[in-house]
Amino acid sequence: MYRIAVLASGRGSNLRAVLEAIQRGDIAASLVGVFSDKPACGALALAREAGVRTVALSPRNYPSRDAFDESLFNEIATVQPDLIVLAGYMRIIGENSVRKFEDRMINLHPSLLPAYPGLDTYARALADGAGEHGSSVHRVIPALDAGPVLAQVRVPVLPGDDAESLAQRTQAREHPLLVACLQALASGRMRLGLGLPNYDARPIMAPLQLTARNELEWAP
Ligand code: GRF
Repeated sequence: MYRIAVLASGRGSNLRAVLEAIQRGDIAASLVGVFSDKPACGALALAREAGVRTVALSPRNYPSRDAFDESLFNEIATVQPDLIVLAGYMRIIGENSVRKFEDRMINLHPSLLPAYPGLDTYARALADGAGEHGSSVHRVIPALDAGPVLAQVRVPVLPGDDAESLAQRTQAREHPLLVACLQALASGRMRLGLGLPNYDARPIMAPLQLTARNELEWAP
């Protein structure tokens, strides 16, 4: 069985979507651990409730970013994940740790990358008068929010939107995006590696797009 580890810092709505999809049998994988830098976060509580192994470490107990990352990723290595999913993990991971898992780590980012890496993507898109926004799943490389993008979902910006309404609309579509990517990865249809990711044995040159039926299709 394909083994997925999740890193999260927040409320865990993406984690919940993954757990439910696994329970429904929509993702042929097992969730082998949830890891966090925020011992009190909602994602950990959710994982515990679901009987998933959890590990939380506090960065303040470590002398440096590298020391923290090394401990966290040593814990992650013990569950032997085929895939590590950063689902609302809000801490930058140092280069040494990224390199060790660079062929098997993905991140969810709430923008149509390469637009708006970093924080406050909704407010920035609104301030620019963007007509659409969305969310991306990309492979993690040492540079922030910059690895090859596997797939995206697009949402319209509507008149009267504020950052909160745009966030809600985007996150509602981000969950099926993540589930579709995990289905494809667990089944072997999508493959990561150190170069361009593949889908149906073709390199993903432009991000796959999530359809209204929650299926991935090639970009036009
Ligand atoms: C999502 O919007 C994701 O794109 C961003 O953090 C948020 C995670 O929320 N990186 P949750 O903890 O999964 O609810």
